[in-house]
Amino acid sequence: MTEAFDAVDIIRIKRDHGILSPEQIDWTIDAYTRGAIADEQMAALNMAILLNGMDRAEISRWTAAMIASGERMDFSSLGRPTSDKHSTGGVGDKITLPLAPLVAVFGVAVPQLSGRGLGHTGGTLDKLESIPGWQPHLSNEDMLRQLAEVGAVICAAGTGLAPADKKLYALRDVTGTVEAIPLIASSIMSKKIAEGTGSLVLDVKVGSGAFMKDEARARELAETMVALGKDAGVNTVALLTDMSTPLGLTAGNAIEVEESVEVLAGGGPSDVVELTVRLAEEMLACAGVHDADPAAALKDGRAMDVWNRMIEAQGGDPRAALPVAKESEVVLAPADGVLVGLDALAVGVAAWRLGAGRARKEDRVQAGAGVRMHAKPGATVRAGEPLMTLLTDTPERFERAREALADAVVIAPEGSRPAQRLIIDRIA
Ligand code: URA
Repeated sequence: MTEAFDAVDIIRIKRDHGILSPEQIDWTIDAYTRGAIADEQMAALNMAILLNGMDRAEISRWTAAMIASGERMDFSSLGRPTSDKHSTGGVGDKITLPLAPLVAVFGVAVPQLSGRGLGHTGGTLDKLESIPGWQPHLSNEDMLRQLAEVGAVICAAGTGLAPADKKLYALRDVTGTVEAIPLIASSIMSKKIAEGTGSLVLDVKVGSGAFMKDEARARELAETMVALGKDAGVNTVALLTDMSTPLGLTAGNAIEVEESVEVLAGGGPSDVVELTVRLAEEMLACAGVHDADPAAALKDGRAMDVWNRMIEAQGGDPRAALPVAKESEVVLAPADGVLVGLDALAVGVAAWRLGAGRARKEDRVQAGAGVRMHAKPGATVRAGEPLMTLLTDTPERFERAREALADAVVIAPEGSRPAQRLIIDRIA
């Protein structure tokens, strides 16, 4: 087959700060997906994009080309609005679990395609798999049926959505080009738009435990993704939220499910409740529902009813006991004072090293492993009091988890206050 363009010419354009035409972009994504552009050529192009950027029209076309590489789901037959949430990932971020059933209470269907964890941030599917019997793989027909009958689905993304992104992401991962904002934004949004949601709320995390450590870059990513959503006709809003300290009091798998169920029962840590309610309000507003009171639906059991049905529909037993780690060790407060810092990255790495996360895609996670925190920033602590409990089935992991936590805790004199701002900004 005669190719419409030459990969080397495309690389040179971006290397020299040029703009790619829509036809050049369509060809690039298609040719790479079918193997007509070699990995080393695509790696060079990715690096040129990382260094020199792309304009809005280029990013939009790049995203559309990735969507066109695979199937596009369609929920219009449901006859009700759909809304989804995407978080850029953080430590203790279990918000999807209470949020999906909560939004469904108000008649907005939530098709939540989720992934597994890699590195220090946990994966929603890994957490839910700690529920006995629950299974993540649904056909498109089963997904549609569950959305119609229950209103919410959290399941694994099939391989048919944006296959170009899968190939491209694997290449970026090994060539130092993950961090390019045009590539991150198009990667995330191609999958969300192909999924077919009518509206989308993005939770873009900022801080040590997040992908984006500084606010300016997180803001740029959020603005780029909101623009892409709007270009594709998906009503999209982003919140910038803090990830300098873990969300809630648990980082792991089963222990995060347990905390989510506490939130669904009307309790749970205040930061998890606040972010769940705020994201629910944003999702409902994006879907055209303006008079809902999500906080009340957590208190009165309506969200819990949907959760129970959602878990049962996927083979899980929502009332079964969750797995518990075989071994535990306590980390004590080193001094008296106010806890002003509990570093998200350090806690995430500790949970990962305890067995809650995986280093390679094929690794298995331990359902019971993780870190249970006994105090959040702002709490007054006494020397020798338990600050955290480390949980694992394999006690030889404790030492490396403790090493990860060596500088995680900052205790200041009484009267000090941590800088606390869970929701930093809203971008629409
Ligand atoms: N998550 C994605 O899906 N893609 C990226 O590029 C980065 C994070």
